[in-house]
Amino acid sequence: MTTLEGAVVLVTGGNRGIGKAIVDDLLGRGVRKVYATARNPEPSTDDRVVTLPLEVTDPASIEALVKAAPDVTVLINNAGGSSPDTYLDAPLADIRTVFETNFFGPLNVTRAFVPVIERNGGGHILNAHSALSWVARHGAYAATKAAFWLQTNAIRLELQDRGIGVTGLHMGYVDTDMAAAVTDPKSKPADIAREALDGIEKDAFEVLADETARQAKAALSGDPTNLYPELRR
Ligand SMILES: NC(=O)c1ccc[n+]([C@@H]2O[C@H](COP(=O)([O-])OP(=O)(O)OC[C@H]3O[C@@H](n4cnc5c(N)ncnc54)[C@H](OP(=O)(O)O)[C@@H]3O)[C@@H](O)[C@H]2O)c1
Repeated sequence: MTTLEGAVVLVTGGNRGIGKAIVDDLLGRGVRKVYATARNPEPSTDDRVVTLPLEVTDPASIEALVKAAPDVTVLINNAGGSSPDTYLDAPLADIRTVFETNFFGPLNVTRAFVPVIERNGGGHILNAHSALSWVARHGAYAATKAAFWLQTNAIRLELQDRGIGVTGLHMGYVDTDMAAAVTDPKSKPADIAREALDGIEKDAFEVLADETARQAKAALSGDPTNLYPELRR
């Protein structure tokens, strides 16, 4: 059982959006310390929150983060970016970049912090996927989240006997900068944060944090037209 009370938690992208909501919820659960990263961090007014710089695509930045946060017991890979909406017209460089940010970035952060968490007696990793791990929308973004989902599932097996639990988080649109242009219904960041952290404390393998995520996963085993109704035309 993972207990967040007294834990030292690293939240990548903890300065805004879902990451910020996770930081706020963690403080209410009595964590000892939160490291919240941003590419240009601002100091926090709460002395339990230490803000640190992180660019997930830069190995030197990850190395510096490991040195600055040696007491981490829980890692939350929340940072992520979006991509152009198409595959056929988007610059290939943009497609590669979103894989660097959403797949290789958290992989490198996890590889760097697994020895830290082990040294500190074990703990937990939570990876922020998406309902789009299971639905092809928003171009390569969805593919990064599908690949990240499988990365999480594989790492959970690799860590099974090493004292580190692994939770995957899935959700539909959430009301943050990332989804600012979206007019569909959006969840509140605080609701997603609560579900995510409850999932860690229950050692859940997977958190389906809203109805969109639950529907996407349920539709996956059916006909592709369930997920892509426009194919019925
Ligand atoms: N919003 C949604 O609808 C939604 C739905 C499903 C899943 N998600 C996922 O939830 C996570 C959080 O998203 P959000 O909605 O809170 O997004 P957001 O408001 O756009 O915030 C993105 C966060 O990721 C950080 N980040 C982005 N690229 C980075 C990089 N290269 N290196 C380090 N940090 C980087 C940003 O840091 P800076 O401040 O330094 O830019 C920021 O803290 C993401 O993984 C996203 O894919 C979001």
